[in-house]
Amino acid sequence: MENLSTIGQSLSRPDAPEKVTGKTRFLTDISVENMVHGAPVYSSIPFGKFNNIDISKAEKVDGFIAFVSAQDIPGENQVGVIISDQPLFADKTVRYIGDSIGLAVAKTPGAALEAARLVKVDYDKKSPYLSIDKSRDATGNFIHKTNLACHHRLRNGDIDVGFAEADTIVEAHFKTPYQEHYYLEPQACIAFPIEDGRIKILGSLQCPFYIQKAVARIFGLPNEKVLVEQAPTGGAFGGKEDIPSEICARAALAAMKVGLPVKVVYHRFDDVQLTSKRHPFQMHYKVGVRNDGTLVSAKILLEENAGAYATLSTVVSYRAAVQAMGPYVIPNIHVDSNSYYTNLPPTGAFRGFGSPQAAFGHERMMDIIADKLKMDPMEFRLKNIVKPGSQTQTAQRLNESVGAEETIQKAARLAQWNSFNPDRSGRYKHGLGMSAIHYGNCLGAAGWHMDGSGVNIKILPSGDVHVAYGLIEMGQGAETVVTQMTADALGIAPSRIRVLPTDSAQVPDSGPAVASRNVIMTGNAIRDAAKKLLPVLKKAASELIECHKSDIIITNDKVTDNQSGVDVGFHELCDFMSRSNMSMEFTGWWHTPPLEYNAETGVGEAYFTYSYATHIAKVRVDTLTGQVFVDKIFAAHDVGKAINPAGIEGQVEGGVAQGIGWAITEDFIMDRGVVTTPNLSTYLLPTALDCPEVETIIVEKSEPDGPWGAKGIGEPSIIPTAAAIANAVSSAIGIQMNEIPLTPERVLNQLNKTEIKK
Ligand code: MOS
Repeated sequence: MENLSTIGQSLSRPDAPEKVTGKTRFLTDISVENMVHGAPVYSSIPFGKFNNIDISKAEKVDGFIAFVSAQDIPGENQVGVIISDQPLFADKTVRYIGDSIGLAVAKTPGAALEAARLVKVDYDKKSPYLSIDKSRDATGNFIHKTNLACHHRLRNGDIDVGFAEADTIVEAHFKTPYQEHYYLEPQACIAFPIEDGRIKILGSLQCPFYIQKAVARIFGLPNEKVLVEQAPTGGAFGGKEDIPSEICARAALAAMKVGLPVKVVYHRFDDVQLTSKRHPFQMHYKVGVRNDGTLVSAKILLEENAGAYATLSTVVSYRAAVQAMGPYVIPNIHVDSNSYYTNLPPTGAFRGFGSPQAAFGHERMMDIIADKLKMDPMEFRLKNIVKPGSQTQTAQRLNESVGAEETIQKAARLAQWNSFNPDRSGRYKHGLGMSAIHYGNCLGAAGWHMDGSGVNIKILPSGDVHVAYGLIEMGQGAETVVTQMTADALGIAPSRIRVLPTDSAQVPDSGPAVASRNVIMTGNAIRDAAKKLLPVLKKAASELIECHKSDIIITNDKVTDNQSGVDVGFHELCDFMSRSNMSMEFTGWWHTPPLEYNAETGVGEAYFTYSYATHIAKVRVDTLTGQVFVDKIFAAHDVGKAINPAGIEGQVEGGVAQGIGWAITEDFIMDRGVVTTPNLSTYLLPTALDCPEVETIIVEKSEPDGPWGAKGIGEPSIIPTAAAIANAVSSAIGIQMNEIPLTPERVLNQLNKTEIKK
């Protein structure tokens, strides 16, 4: 029988028509009856104390309704998602320009902003810490109990023995910058008071269950009293992971105080100044290698600028630590990964959670070592690359789904790596750079306790199927793959399936929609639900057709008795079930497999599986202006199984564009804690003209624990890009470029320095 499954097919996105025709209503388009507006009041100094908040001028603003602050909180004044270090509203101490003091509520957005501006706060200033170095070296006047926000370490093998065995030891420093998420839709929500004391939140968000818990904590309520629904979300990238918890909780407090729905939409300037970004890293690598290119030992120090609050620094610090040396075998390795508080906006989750930073470290390092050894950078990588059965740097034995080597070889073949031999005599210097990475899927050992997700599949009498899931669509194509996986698991047409907007009341707490975990978690939960549902469908079908249930086959949207050949439509079966009082709703659940991991040494199974990728960047450097042009990116990704190839290409092209921005154009600048690049004329996102053709190569090394063999793609798509570009530029101009962004000024400076030395 012909199989009409859409797994592996580029089914088009169910959410696309409304989005491209402008019909989708995002938060800014939504207004509800009696809605009022909130605007944030925040600290204007980076570090200090305040005693008095004067709202007398704000109260006189036409339309002013209320001012909400710490004293209005009935429960715990705490919103820290992993470490409890962050008050929802500052309690006398402020730690960055943007730290929350209160929310001004008024009848119009303009009046709320005006009132917020007129709230006067008297500060006693303290001397702020504005860099990692200053924070690390502090001896008192700490930002919290200490300036160290969190720390992860890895101790595997004996690095001294390793360095003694090495023929060459190479050391280098690297620096990577901030990155602002710049989701096109800023932070936004509406909080509704419900008469029976419950609270409803509608928001542009990534993690409904984080918000549910955060709001419940502020009110001292059980979680079930808080209902969270996701509005269509115009980009997130990690920036709507924990941050919406703050914004929604403040809006909820205001809504309960004034008894009306309260809407909060951040203006772009406030969004950029107040919310999290990618952690800047400074890294020190010392790596020992044999003459034949075998890696033997590494000592790595990663230092991260956490900003004023830890937010998701623990996740960033952990990932960077366990992935610090990349997808290579290395028997002896020590890593210290330290996140330091500073009096700057908090840094947190951003596509990859510290992986792009660590990848910049290990992939620049691989090229620098290859250069020292006079080895081809690809050969050097292939010599050390992990394979099935290899151990990672944390001594985790890998299973069969290890496509690292194949991604290198396929990308290199397409890029014609071996025959690349540019003429470098002219003004423009051409270069090719390679970068290979691995990425632990889902939450890993550090977040294992909450690494389960659910779906609820409801069969309607019409034959329509509604799927509620706990993770979310934020532009990445989740709805599409959830549709495909549900259709395939049940043997029915995708057109029957409707994926519902994520709603905390519809599904059990499914953890955060992060870490490239949607396909694996939701896919496996769908398979679990189907396992419960199919026997019920078959039993019902055998009653309807009057045959043995073991003879029933459901495929290609038909329900068939394999003996007689009699078939009925799926909708007829559903109608029969509803008339026969049968169960028509099924919950599926999946938790990641157990991991053996020692948090003290960092040795063990850090993640149950890894995605692998290799990017090769082809660049052109204008030595007159210092400008870097990316001419082409070859991107090979081991995704286990491509559920939707076009969706994967979309993720890869998006990740590459964001990686180009971080590597070249995006230069996030602050002056004593004030962001001086708060808009698109000063913070340069790459445009279509900056984004080259991307050739995506899909490698499928099936993962036994992945649904249909699949692994994650959302974050792997950005992780190798910047290092590939920096490697290509370094090779083109013959200077090791160890800091990004590669702005014309930075490149020209390096070229000039080298000229002078010559
Ligand atoms: Mo992300 S950094 O997994 O939201």
